[in-house]
Amino acid sequence: MEGGSSVAVVGAGLVGCSWALVFARAGLDVAVHDADAAARSRVRDRIAAWLGDLAAAGLLEDEAEACLARVRLCDRLDEAVRSAAYIQESVFERADVKAEVCRAIDGAMRPDAVVGSSSSGIPASRFTEGLARRNRFLIAHPVNPPHLIPVVELVPAPWTDADAVSAARALMERVGQSPVTVNREVEGFILNRLQGALLNEAFALYREGYAGLDDIDRTVRDGLGLRWSFMGPFETIDLNAPGGIADYAARLKDLYHSIAMQRTAPEPWPDEVVKRAETERRAALPATALTKRSAWRDERLAKLLAHRRGEG
Ligand SMILES: NC(=O)c1ccc[n+]([C@@H]2O[C@H](COP(=O)([O-])OP(=O)(O)OC[C@H]3O[C@@H](n4cnc5c(N)ncnc54)[C@H](O)[C@@H]3O)[C@@H](O)[C@H]2O)c1
Repeated sequence: MEGGSSVAVVGAGLVGCSWALVFARAGLDVAVHDADAAARSRVRDRIAAWLGDLAAAGLLEDEAEACLARVRLCDRLDEAVRSAAYIQESVFERADVKAEVCRAIDGAMRPDAVVGSSSSGIPASRFTEGLARRNRFLIAHPVNPPHLIPVVELVPAPWTDADAVSAARALMERVGQSPVTVNREVEGFILNRLQGALLNEAFALYREGYAGLDDIDRTVRDGLGLRWSFMGPFETIDLNAPGGIADYAARLKDLYHSIAMQRTAPEPWPDEVVKRAETERRAALPATALTKRSAWRDERLAKLLAHRRGEG
């Protein structure tokens, strides 16, 4: 990924627009393509609104206008990717759509460019196998919205060049994201496997009547989640026993093993349990208020980020 710091984003929905903002605010020129003209017409307004939110939270180091000026909209995919050193694919989460778009990128990209896919769960090997430059493709899975949540999982296919992974990692660090390298493909990558373990247990405890939905949420919001906003589970337990992680394991590994042995035959979340959870959630937050609450979440996230920056 030498000689040039321009990037391209293909697919300009929620995640693609947020990626464009991540690159533009870091000073990179971003070419953005979406197959849908209506989606292209929304890009500038969406990014401008987010830039306003970032500026209000004290999270923007450059002028909003200057950031926006670095975003170039392209009607054609080849025009967007032709000279890009890095391309972020962010189209629909469907293997056939990703395969078609990656074929088009493959035919138009620089031979040394790197292509990261925002895929939430489909591994790169499912849609890049037949490409001429398949060795330059990998997963770069963000958390929504990437301009507020920095982690990005980099997951190579079996044929991805090691230097493509390291170049993507270096770029993500340069633009202020927090890259995680997953050494080989695994369903759900790391983040959704961890989230899935917690959700599976939360649904089981709720179904079995051990606690209500709100109290389970409260356990994370007012308990585990407070530490998790600045340290992970391994560092957490390293500090939770006087002798560190080995001491913690010696004291509590039998308890955790016993708990794990109680869930040896996991089931899909039962429909009636999901329905009950939905009824409770809609009583707490009507469907008409979901968008407003999402905006509130993003505002809180921005304040949390500003706080973390202030703490160094
Ligand atoms: N939304 C999330 O929470 C989230 C989080 C992490 C990763 N992702 C992943 O990011 C990707 C995009 O998700 P999203 O939520 O932004 O979806 P979205 O529906 O908002 O946007 C997808 C965009 O891709 C465009 N597109 C579709 N086919 C195309 C093509 N052939 N060429 C060019 N553009 C095309 C669509 O017009 C649309 O604007 C998916 O792989 C998704 O799984 C989403």
